[in-house]
Amino acid sequence: MSEALLEVRDLEVYFPIKKGVLKKTTGNVKAVNGLNLSVNKGETLGIVGESGCGKSTLARTILGLEKPTSGDILIEGESILNYSAKQMHRLRRDVQMVFQDPFTSLNPRMKVSEIIAAPLKAYKMTDNIEQRVKELMDLVGLKPEYHDRLPHEFSGGQRQRIGIARAIALKPKLIVCDEPVSALDVSVQAQVINLFEDLQKELDLTYVFIAHDLSVIKHIADKVSVMYLGKMMERSDSESFYNHAQHPYTNALLSAIPLPDPGKEKTRERIVLKGELPSPANPPTGCVFHTRCPIARDYCKENTPQLERKGNEEHEVACFFPIEKGMVEAGSENLLR
Ligand SMILES: Nc1ncnc2c1ncn2[C@@H]1O[C@H](COP(=O)(O)OP(=O)(O)OP(=O)(O)O)[C@@H](O)[C@H]1O
Ligand SMILES: [Mg+2]
Repeated sequence: MSEALLEVRDLEVYFPIKKGVLKKTTGNVKAVNGLNLSVNKGETLGIVGESGCGKSTLARTILGLEKPTSGDILIEGESILNYSAKQMHRLRRDVQMVFQDPFTSLNPRMKVSEIIAAPLKAYKMTDNIEQRVKELMDLVGLKPEYHDRLPHEFSGGQRQRIGIARAIALKPKLIVCDEPVSALDVSVQAQVINLFEDLQKELDLTYVFIAHDLSVIKHIADKVSVMYLGKMMERSDSESFYNHAQHPYTNALLSAIPLPDPGKEKTRERIVLKGELPSPANPPTGCVFHTRCPIARDYCKENTPQLERKGNEEHEVACFFPIEKGMVEAGSENLLR
């Protein structure tokens, strides 16, 4: 029996492309294209990747909102794919989501108290809903006097607090956070991330935390996975990941994070990826990253790298020519064409 709360096995989620009056299927958008991950109880898995790499599709599939083309999703060792309506109802309580856009994810006509009370009513969680709403508002740092306000009366950060209160209301086992701070100002981002961390400690929560920027998840993630065109490029525990990223794509993402020291920031080299992000409807052969990789060789065009253990036990890289330690710091011109 594994201790994983969530396991994703060989997951593929394809969307058919239909053309013409007969709506014939002419191809597939391979949004998630063979993905494995696991998250233990109480952990935070950070998932990072560019726009369109399949992060939201992965999130929606974990919540049972998208049907996989193949592969499996297990919660506490049990596959959710053939769940009955009753089991699905339970899953909707145990696995919650916090969305990217706090402006559209809340019903504009409902008061804060009604938004937070809605899941409690739907699942008949408590006899004293009013008291529980008060507790939840307090937990996420919303003042009691905001009780009767409508979403438009709040700032982005406060709205996200309402979304978080709604997500924790049913004491879920897992919360999938899909870019929950991307729409917020940088100063507010830090406050909301701190709130996620505090709640995790207090309520023993497990998170899948999606972002498109590695700096956002640096403090919150215990483990980090990097996605590119529906595939996992590198995954590791956070410490090894940030100190010794080995995939050229991860190194490019890391080199884009501004350094706090202005002197170092001025002189540091950036790895600029060449070319457009390929379409997931027509991914490159071999290593999907080879068309933009600064160190790709002919071999990478014909052969597909699998995630393999490199260095410490938890660190895996899908690259035939992973970057040796220190190469980026030593001068990223080595990596540029
Ligand atoms: N319902 C759908 N039908 C067809 N294609 C879809 C559907 N949902 C997503 N896609 C496509 O699948 C790919 C992955 O999309 P997804 O929204 O999962 O990416 P993402 O990593 O969340 O991007 P972003 O950072 O912009 O949110 C994209 O090419 C997208 O256009
Ligand atoms: Mg998305």
